[in-house]
Formats: sequence, structure tokens, C-alpha cells
Amino acid sequence: MPIPIASDHAGLPLKQALKAALEAEGLSFDDLGTHGPESVDYPDFAHAVCERVAGSEGFGILVCGTGIGMVMAANRHPGIRAAVLHNATEARLTRAHNNANIACLGARTTGIEVALDAIRAFLASPFDGGRHIGRVEKLDTMLAKQGAAGAKPWA
Ligand code: RB5
Repeated sequence: MPIPIASDHAGLPLKQALKAALEAEGLSFDDLGTHGPESVDYPDFAHAVCERVAGSEGFGILVCGTGIGMVMAANRHPGIRAAVLHNATEARLTRAHNNANIACLGARTTGIEVALDAIRAFLASPFDGGRHIGRVEKLDTMLAKQGAAGAKPWA
């Protein structure tokens, strides 16, 4: 199944480079934008990918200037566990421990070779399960409580 991917204007060059390299390795993508250099709002593009990934078994990729705006936006969606990746170790561990389903990258902070290694590791690494299952479930419990009652889940 094609991997949903999106960026804002700042993330566009890295997104394009990632797609080109990974398509050459046999992966396919559903590019949900942005497609041009005009300034856009990263939450809109995070939302588009999250809608595809939430409730599925699949992964998504988001790119902005730092990856930080995208990860903030993505993690406001139930069923989404997004992580900013700066290297392959973070990618492997966030799959293994957090069962992350969206990889966020920063075009202004991470070069193409490091980003490629991170994405390859992210897509190849399994969730460890076990002791991590209950912890990951608590993430959705927090979000559900907040959404249902407007409560602060940390209170
Ligand atoms: C856009 O200039 C920039 O703010 C955005 O891409 C992102 O880095 C925000 O987190």
C-alpha cells in the first residue's frame, strides 16, 4: 500500500528527495501535498496524513522545517503516535518501544542520507510489544479523557 506522505513548504525539498530515493528502492507514496513553494500551514498537512494512518496498520511520513510542528499536530490525533527522527537509532527505538506510526523529519535539521537511514529503520523495525503495550495504551487513554471531558490528562 502506498505510504501517505506530506510536507509544508519548508519540508518540500527533503520530502521530494526522500520520495525519489525510496521509490527507486521499490516503495510507493501517496503525496498529500504540499506540491509547491508557497507558504502553507503544517497542521493541515499533518491532519491529511493522520486521517489515513489512524485506525490503520500503516505508517505515514511528515516533513516540515524541523519536524516539530508536524509532530505536535500529529500527536493531537487519536491513534497517532508520531516521533521526530534525527537518526536511525531513534527510528528503531520509537518503533520498538512506542509503536510509532508516523515519522516526522526536519528539512532544516536533517540531511538526506541520515533521513533516509531513519526512514528505512522506521519502516523495517517491529514493535516489541510486552511491557510496552500498556504504556502505549495509556497514550490513547490520556487523549480520550482530554477529548471527552476537556480534562487535563496530567492532572
Ligand atoms: C515553516 O517556516 C516552519 O515554521 C515549519 O516548517 C516548521 O518547522 C514548524 O515546526
